[in-house]
Amino acid sequence: MIREIVQVGAPVLRETCKPVERFDGELGRLLDDMKETLLDAQGAGLAAPQVGVPVRAVVVLVDEGYFEFINPVFVWQKGEQVGAEGCLSVRGKAGTVRRPSKVKILFQDRKGDKYSIVARDFFARAVCHELDHLDGILYTDKAENIRDAED
Ligand code: CO
Repeated sequence: MIREIVQVGAPVLRETCKPVERFDGELGRLLDDMKETLLDAQGAGLAAPQVGVPVRAVVVLVDEGYFEFINPVFVWQKGEQVGAEGCLSVRGKAGTVRRPSKVKILFQDRKGDKYSIVARDFFARAVCHELDHLDGILYTDKAENIRDAED
């Protein structure tokens, strides 16, 4: 089911999200809905608070594939990249954001199993952007210049 994507100004986007503790059907439905909502919106990533649920879960869709990261935490962040970013919760805007070029995270899948992954370049940017959402941070807090998006 496609869920409504909450827009900047909604308090839920500023919450520190709670860890996921139950790897149950409710989490599965949330993730299925987040994937459908992300595909519909043609975005690169979506965090649970963006559909109004303040828990530590994000989905990412990049060239490397589709990923679900539950309770993700950084192991390390390396390098630097500067590039354009937007957000499905900040419609019609874009900004230039400095991010690490390579990150490693630990995370759980929807069953609760633990994994790690290294993300580079745009994948790393998407991971950093989505993990920020879990701490109530929007890219506009970090962007050097916010402008109207070209599309
Ligand atoms: Co965003």
